[in-house]
Amino acid sequence: MKETWELYTCSAVKKGIRVENNLDDDLHEIMGSRKQIKQVLLNFIQNAEKACSQGDKIIVKTYMNSGWVCLEVRDTGKGIHPDHVDKLFSPFFTTEQKEPVLDWPYVNALSQIIMDVFS
Ligand SMILES: Nc1ncnc2c1ncn2[C@@H]1O[C@H](COP(=O)(O)OP(=O)(O)O)[C@@H](O)[C@H]1O
Ligand SMILES: [Mg+2]
Repeated sequence: MKETWELYTCSAVKKGIRVENNLDDDLHEIMGSRKQIKQVLLNFIQNAEKACSQGDKIIVKTYMNSGWVCLEVRDTGKGIHPDHVDKLFSPFFTTEQKEPVLDWPYVNALSQIIMDVFS
């Protein structure tokens, strides 16, 4: 969590977005793929960054709740249009115009994933 957080909040900070984390060091162990969890967190942070402008804030929190290990990513950005809420879990749903050229956050993310695969 910490590695991903530090790596990917850099670009948010450069845009004047405030970032805050509140990571519980005393979480239970969880079963799962470290790489996949990192990818999920990365997507959340990138989504938050895209929705935020200068002065907004991204907050990542991990905590235990009734025996569950919880990860929470919040942002004060523009929010999600009510018409889009139901579509969020549909694969490939996006409100973005995808650029054919990779931009820096994607190159950065891809590099990290490649490093993970070969490390
Ligand atoms: N934090 C957020 N704030 C506002 N809208 C969001 C946020 N996270 C996701 N969304 C909306 O959900 C859509 C789907 O997100 P996602 O599945 O990550 O695909 P992508 O990031 O490639 O668009 C985004 O295009 C955006 O419209
Ligand atoms: Mg996304």
